[in-house]
Amino acid sequence: MTEIIRWLDFMVIPERKRHIFCVRDFALLLSYIHGVDSFRVEIAALSHDLFRDVPPDRLLRLSKLWNVPMSDVEIKHPILLHGRVAAEFLRRRFSFEDSEVLMAVAYHTSGHPDFDRIGKILTVSDTVGYDRDFSGVEDLRDLAMKDLEEAYRAVLKNRIIYAVSTDRYLLEMSVSAWNRLVERR
Ligand SMILES: [Fe+2]
Ligand SMILES: [Fe+2]
Repeated sequence: MTEIIRWLDFMVIPERKRHIFCVRDFALLLSYIHGVDSFRVEIAALSHDLFRDVPPDRLLRLSKLWNVPMSDVEIKHPILLHGRVAAEFLRRRFSFEDSEVLMAVAYHTSGHPDFDRIGKILTVSDTVGYDRDFSGVEDLRDLAMKDLEEAYRAVLKNRIIYAVSTDRYLLEMSVSAWNRLVERR
């Protein structure tokens, strides 16, 4: 854990570090409430944006070097690769093979149809951590403490609505994640 924090010190800008620690704090709170291993949740939270401030050309180069498969939209917007590159870094640098944590880190931006509770905790905490301030954030925090599944669903729904209403690209993985939630209802 201390090694990840050391990496954060020179990989991310101070505002990002603040965000990452806010995500970590809320994710840990959710892990205690919902009975999920806090150590694994903390690793996911601390590493999720480790590559968020890496310039796009370097993200592309790292993805090629580490054989991270890239879609056309990711080649155009390499910032979308920051989660998957971070997961690959954890695997390579620390021989870390916890697939649930790796998936959470890799797909925290989009969500994933196969997310288990760690992925849901990370996605929710990334959106409603204590550094976020938007209308309805308090309600979402309360919901996350009461019902993780419903909070994840609400966060995913907000992201999809936001992308569509601002004419932004809708990540295919978000659509798959959403459809899986609908199927399960
Ligand atoms: Fe991120
Ligand atoms: Fe984040």
